[in-house]
Amino acid sequence: MALWTPQPRQRAFMERPEWEAFYGGAAGGGKSDVLVVEALRQIEVPWYKGIIFRKTYRQLGELLDKADRYYRRAVPGARYNGQQSCWKFPSGAKIYFAGMQYTKDREKWQGWQFDYIAFDELTHFLFDEYSYMFSRNRASGPDTRVYIRATGNPGGIGHGWVKNRFITVAPPMTPVKKRIQWTDTQGEEHTDWRYRIFVPAKLSDNAALEKNDPNYRLNLAMLPQKEREALLEGNWDSFSGQVFTEWRNDPDHYQDHKHTHVIEPFLTPKHWRVLMGYDWGYSKPFACGWYAVDEQGKMYMIRELYGCTGDPDVGVQWDVAKTAAKIREIEAEDPNLKGRTIERIADPAIFQKNSEGSVAELFERNHVYFTRGEHERIAGKMQAHYRLQFDGIGEPMFQVFSTCTNFIRTIPTLVYSETDVEDVDTRQEDHLYDQWRYVCMKRRISPKVREEKPRPKADPLNQFVPKMYGY
Ligand SMILES: Nc1ncnc2c1ncn2[C@@H]1O[C@H](COP(=O)(O)OP(=O)(O)OP(=O)(O)O)[C@@H](O)[C@H]1O
Ligand SMILES: [Mg+2]
Repeated sequence: MALWTPQPRQRAFMERPEWEAFYGGAAGGGKSDVLVVEALRQIEVPWYKGIIFRKTYRQLGELLDKADRYYRRAVPGARYNGQQSCWKFPSGAKIYFAGMQYTKDREKWQGWQFDYIAFDELTHFLFDEYSYMFSRNRASGPDTRVYIRATGNPGGIGHGWVKNRFITVAPPMTPVKKRIQWTDTQGEEHTDWRYRIFVPAKLSDNAALEKNDPNYRLNLAMLPQKEREALLEGNWDSFSGQVFTEWRNDPDHYQDHKHTHVIEPFLTPKHWRVLMGYDWGYSKPFACGWYAVDEQGKMYMIRELYGCTGDPDVGVQWDVAKTAAKIREIEAEDPNLKGRTIERIADPAIFQKNSEGSVAELFERNHVYFTRGEHERIAGKMQAHYRLQFDGIGEPMFQVFSTCTNFIRTIPTLVYSETDVEDVDTRQEDHLYDQWRYVCMKRRISPKVREEKPRPKADPLNQFVPKMYGY
């Protein structure tokens, strides 16, 4: 009997020709197994090197157990070196296992090269940690295949960028093509293409597990709703740890302005107050948002400007003059902003003085004036929650125009910090959130009074329940 045979979905993943492939979704789909086995593909090549990452060294234990189970039996003569966390094969080929708990841990691999790079539980990593390893992905000799593989479940600090990179960009099993341009040492321009793909994992794909442990599905079914949807069904819109669980983006309701936070743009009345929020960033993205507030204090986000290169959390590095010019241009042209008085509120950090004066002063020289935003993080977060709550008729105190695509993309993916459990994890793409928070703090509201639902009438059968077993 074969030691390990891929199941159909695992086979589909292993057959993909793309440079980058992500196998993701439900728990128990056979994801970690397939990464460990895939690493063996080129072990006949003496110079082949592969590496498999998990977030922490402790979590790596699970992968090492799998390697021990499969490698030892599949390849007589394979040896494990515990000190280097490396399997060495008779040909000379090597497969490393590594943790990357902190971003700086990636430096350890500077100067190395790997033909096969794999990340298990990719949603636990930051994009910077993942993308750094692209530079380490090159042939260690002639005739090796060079590629990247990853697996993961919904949820975690990397949920947002992973979802964006692999899940929302195209339907499952559809290759995504990205054009790459670069200049060589002779100054010649080159264009090439990189391909990536998402292969969805379902628990039902793993017949081996369903057979060995039919109760596992039951365990997942007993989880709280968010976790259940994420881990049992591989639903990427649902995960535990999400901060703004109130968030709804339902296109069916864009027109009636209810039951959703995203709406079609409209021309706001001239007398509505207009505010603008700004979060400073240079190597990280800067973020601007413009808001209109109606007579009842309901806030609409009408326009965004996000200084991001298109790579997750990478800033465009504009100086103040360029940013200010763009802000003025938008405010002069947008029909909802043209000719209006705009109150601008900024990240308090821009008021800090350095040798050249503060960033706020630089903006003033460019005719863009800010007042200092309030930086109380938890109070600001509560204001954001109050704004998102729906009232008795299903209307929230905040809505955003469907054209503010980066805001709509990043807000629902924010997760809680592990160290400060009440606050948003600041290592994520939280810049549009931050500027929104400054504006919410400027126009504070009280929490909505929730309509109490009528309680169900007492069921006469209830009295028998305590006597029943095996309900
Ligand atoms: N092709 C296969 N043949 C036999 N057993 C398999 C196969 N694929 C996976 N399994 C077994 O199914 C179980 C779950 O697989 P695995 O650990 O790879 O799932 P996973 O998707 O990584 O789960 P999680 O989401 O919890 O990390 C393991 O016991 C694994 O050995
Ligand atoms: Mg796993």
